[in-house]
Amino acid sequence: MSTLSTDVIVDLQYGDCGKGKIAHHLCKEGLYTHVLRYNGGANAGHTIFHKEKKFITHQIPAGVFFGIKSVVGSGCVLDPVQFFAELEMLKEGGVETQDKIFVAENVHVITDAHREEDKREGLRIGTTGRGNGPAYREKYGRTGVRASDVPELKPYLINLYEEWYKRDDVRVLAEGAQGFGLDIDWGDYPYVTSSHCTAAGALLNGLSPRSLKDVWGVAKVYETYVGSKKFQPEDEVLNKIGDVGEEFGATTGRRRQVNWMNMQTLERAVRMNGVTRIVFNKVDVLRTVGAWAVYDDNKKVEFKNGEDMQAFVSERLKSMGILPEHIYFSESKDKI
Ligand code: IMP
Ligand code: MG
Repeated sequence: MSTLSTDVIVDLQYGDCGKGKIAHHLCKEGLYTHVLRYNGGANAGHTIFHKEKKFITHQIPAGVFFGIKSVVGSGCVLDPVQFFAELEMLKEGGVETQDKIFVAENVHVITDAHREEDKREGLRIGTTGRGNGPAYREKYGRTGVRASDVPELKPYLINLYEEWYKRDDVRVLAEGAQGFGLDIDWGDYPYVTSSHCTAAGALLNGLSPRSLKDVWGVAKVYETYVGSKKFQPEDEVLNKIGDVGEEFGATTGRRRQVNWMNMQTLERAVRMNGVTRIVFNKVDVLRTVGAWAVYDDNKKVEFKNGEDMQAFVSERLKSMGILPEHIYFSESKDKI
């Protein structure tokens, strides 16, 4: 009998929290047969250091670096130009891609027209200009083009039903793009992306809810956001955090706005995504800057040191049902 299990990695803030780092760590443990990108398109940017070489991928999931089957799921939109450029880059960089990279046959495709429209019209909310919004609009308007309509993609196509349910022992790591704060329904509309960034969005890729095991929530110890809305208050310390944390987008190079972590926003994300394990990245950045704070009930709460802040946050997470041993605070360079 076939068995399917799914773990999800979801970003609890506005993207760029370090999902890739957690994915690499979990892939190395050999726990998974597949890594699935479950939402978004070439708007995501993922920086990977592999065998001392730096790679930036936008479409292809990180599993490929570990020889695991990497799948662009039906919840995504796929830019074939970007996809083939990345394949070429990986091959040139010595990464084995043969029989490792797959595309759901029903994923929708980003066209040149989508990209051009997004570069013109996306300015209002500050999109990445990669054609995401227009591609999803056509998907839902039922005028879209699917991967199965593109002859060049034929060698990479898979049927997710066959893949998930007609094989033995399928263990999927479903990796989201962007973050809960950018989710089309639960983010700050219209300053959102056009896809479902939640853990529920992972299941939309044909994965049964009954297969779901762990949900890894990933956050930073402060928040960042890129886009048109005003997010960062005037505060030199926040500027410094942005500098020390090197908070620039991997896709567009834009400076990310910075703010303190908001406990109520975090709680909403933890509850709505069913988080079972949580990682806070970049603790070292606040240590270098020498400032520790969160917002709680609209008030800024400051801490003397990192230990005090971690104890405060952990206590709160325990009250949300997360076990203390499933709460991790991580440095920029750590694995977890
Ligand atoms: P779009 O996804 O390109 O339509 O952009 C919508 C919003 O999501 C903008 O504020 C983008 O800056 C933001 N965004 C999209 N992808 C990412 C990402 O991978 N990291 C961080 N922000 C993103
Ligand atoms: Mg990113």
